[in-house]
Parts: sequence; structure tokens; C-alpha cells
Amino acid sequence: MPEKPKTNDELELRIDSLAFGGRGVARTDGFVIFVEGALPGDLVRARVTRSRRSYAEARTVAVLEASAARVEPRCRHFGICGGCSWQSLAYETQLEYKQSQVNECLSHIGGLSGFETEPPVGAEPLWRYRNKVEYSFAGEDGVVNLGFHLPGQWRRILDIEDCLLHSEATNRIRDRIREFARASGVAVFDQNSDRGFWRHLTLREAARTGEIMVNIVTAPGEFPGADELSRQLMGEFPRIASLLWSVNETRAAVATGFPFRVLAGRDHITEEVCGLKLAVTPSSFLQTNTAMAERLYEKALEFAEPGGDELVFDLYSGIGSIALVFARRCREVFGIEIVDEAARQAMENARANGLGNATFRQGKVRSALKQIVEPAGNAVPAVLPQIVILDPPRAGASKKEVQRILKLEARRLVYVSCNASTMAANAAQLRQGGYRLTRVAAIDMFPHTPHIETVARFERD
Ligand SMILES: C[S@@+](CC[C@H](N)C(=O)[O-])C[C@H]1O[C@@H](n2cnc3c(N)ncnc32)[C@H](O)[C@@H]1O
Repeated sequence: MPEKPKTNDELELRIDSLAFGGRGVARTDGFVIFVEGALPGDLVRARVTRSRRSYAEARTVAVLEASAARVEPRCRHFGICGGCSWQSLAYETQLEYKQSQVNECLSHIGGLSGFETEPPVGAEPLWRYRNKVEYSFAGEDGVVNLGFHLPGQWRRILDIEDCLLHSEATNRIRDRIREFARASGVAVFDQNSDRGFWRHLTLREAARTGEIMVNIVTAPGEFPGADELSRQLMGEFPRIASLLWSVNETRAAVATGFPFRVLAGRDHITEEVCGLKLAVTPSSFLQTNTAMAERLYEKALEFAEPGGDELVFDLYSGIGSIALVFARRCREVFGIEIVDEAARQAMENARANGLGNATFRQGKVRSALKQIVEPAGNAVPAVLPQIVILDPPRAGASKKEVQRILKLEARRLVYVSCNASTMAANAAQLRQGGYRLTRVAAIDMFPHTPHIETVARFERD
């Protein structure tokens, strides 16, 4: 019986692959070890952080022999921040791994084969691609810091100087707000004592229109020098179209979903996606990489192949982005979205873009579809869609939701996913329900991270 590695053991490990989620995988004496900070081909010395019956987890202490796919990481915060753990891996290799992880999920979790896999769509640009960033304030030794949580240390914040996933302008705005908070003499909010003021800063930047939203989240209380800060920011950064102050009265360390006041400009910014104008408020869901969201939606349209006369359902429709792209190419589109504000915004977005053939309903997919496929009493079943698009959150669709989707009997389903493993589980259920997976495309929205977006096409047997 091989000896099990123990916590704090230091081992020399050859990494042979990457696991779903991005850690290196080594195998020793029948054990699988998931190694943080290690890439395939590396020989590393790693310290065991956790040991279970059949696997262990470890963190790289030193790279003894570097993999040929290693490149110099660009970010000054690399290795501490934990945000872009794959930036030391050559981009082509990142893409290969993302693609193979999608395929593995579909074949191992979904038990599927015989589908066509397209070459992965690489991101362009590779840096400064995000349109949204959420920073947290922390007070350490009397100094106000503003940055990201250190991995696994929820109370500690890494003070960020330059995040290469965001534009130079939004990095500079963050710096100004930190300077202001430091000079304010007001403390950062402390969850233990329930005292202090500064909590979060969310910045959104519309890639196509250039408009920026600044949302400063604080605890209740007087905002010291709010007018002065507004003047400074609006003067120095003319692209700020919306400067907001949100108040979080709860202890929960979350940055959105609170009542806000407009300090300057409007209550929203406008982004353009596939030529559609979309209003974005602090709590709107918008794909965080605008350029690649366009590629994703184009792929969804290509896979759906609408002829022009279809009724299309867009499930989990958010602010209606996918639905409106389809509305220009189909007879009618109907979206279902759980968040009331997002569903209302989707209706607004339809109106603003002159698309009278798109309607949205606030509700859960499960219950909204029940009313459609199993109407109460003697009601006549509603007209059913020929094409269904679904873009669920990371957890995927529930079994009940998939059952209801099957009852729609659409001839084609296009599944947009940010989590291939949950998509694969749903795909297995769709297969049992009479749908064949025919085409899959991986689209990279998040270079230098293990995340990958997937579009899959299912056709009814
Ligand atoms: C990944 S987003 C997709 C948004 C949209 N398709 C887009 O590309 O912008 C998932 C959306 O599903 C919504 N959602 C989550 N659970 C839901 C449910 N059970 N029923 C309906 N919508 C849900 C979320 O609020 C979110 O807007």
C-alpha cells in the first residue's frame, strides 16, 4: 500500500496535465495531487496543503524544471493576487487546455460522442479586456488599501497598482479614489465592529461607447467631501458618465444590489453589443468581455440557424442581449429572466432598439415554462418555440428545468455555458430526452484564467 502524503510534506512532482479549474495534476504512488501554481511539464517542489483518501492538494514552493510552455508573467501582482493564474502559460497552450477540458467534460460527465468540435476562438485583445471590476477596501495598520482579496484570506486585501485585465483609465480612477479615501480621515468598514465607512468600488467601462460607471459602496453615514470628489473625478475623467454612491446597510460583503444615489451624470451607462444599444445599471448582468461576447452571440446565431420565421425562447435572458440579437433575425423572441430589474431593462432595451418582436417575462425558468407547457385548467397550450437558447448561471439548469425545456419540443437548442461541467450534465439529460449534440465551439472570454465559454448545438432526433 503506497504511503499517503501528509499535510506539510514537501514532494518533488512532475506535472502531467491541468485539472478542470486550472491546477496542475501530478500522480505519485497511486495518488493524484492537485498542485497550485504548477503547469504541465514542470518539475516542482510542492508542499502538501490537504490530504484525502485518494487525492491530495499542494502548493508549488519552487519550480525545479520549467515546462516548455512557461512564459514570463506580465503582471506585477502575479503569484500573490491569484487572479490570472494561467498568465505564465503560453496563450496557445491555454487555449488547447480549455478546448480539451470542454471535450473531456462532454465525454466523461455527459457520456457524449460524435459531435463536431470547432477550433477554439481565441480572445482579442489578450489584456485589458474586462468591462467590469470590483475592488474592496481594507484598513491595515491604519492605512486604507483598495484592491482584491488575497486567495483564501477573506479579510486581507492586496493593494492593486495596475490590474492588466482593466483599462489604464479605470486603474487611474481607482488610484484617485484610494487617495481620496486615505486623505478623508474616515475609516474602512470593519465587519466585526460594524463601524467605518468605505466598503467597495465597482467600475464598469463600456468597450464600444467608452462610457464609465463609478459606483462607490459604503456603510451608512455622511460621505465626507462627496461634492469635492465628484468635481475632481468628473474634471479629470470626462468619460465618467455615471458616478454613483451605494449604501450597504448589511454586514454582507457584497458590492451590488443596494439603493444608490447619483453623485454626477446618469444612473446608467450605455454599451453596444452587436450593434445593439444596451443600458447598463449597477446590478445589470453584462458579459464582462464585450468584444468576445459579440463572438459568442454570433456563434449562437450561427448554431441556431434561424430562417426568419421562428419563435425563439431565450431562457435566463439577463438584460436581453442574446434575445435582441435574435430578434433581428426571427419572427418573435420571448425571454425569461429571474431578476425583475433585468427583465424590465430587457423590455427597455427592446424598445430603445426598435425591436417590437421581443418580449420578456420576469420569472424562474422552471415555473414560467410550467405555465407554458402545462397550462392550468382547460387553457390551450401556448405556441411553442422552434428554437430555444439557454444561458444559465454557473450551476447550469436544474433537472426540473431541463425536463420542462424538453417538453417545449423545439427542433434546435443552443446552449451557452460558462461552466462546461454543468453543461455536460445537462447535455446528458438532453440526450436522454431525444436531443443529439451536434456542434461545440469554445470561445475564450477570459485569457490567463482557466475559464472558458462554450456554445453547443443540440438537434431533436
Ligand atoms: C449567464 S447569465 C446570462 C445572461 C444573458 N444571456 C447575457 O448573455 O447577458 C444568467 C442569467 O440567468 C438569470 N437566472 C438565474 N437563475 C434563473 C432562473 N432560475 N430562472 C430565470 N433566470 C435565472 C440570472 O439573473 C442571469 O441574468
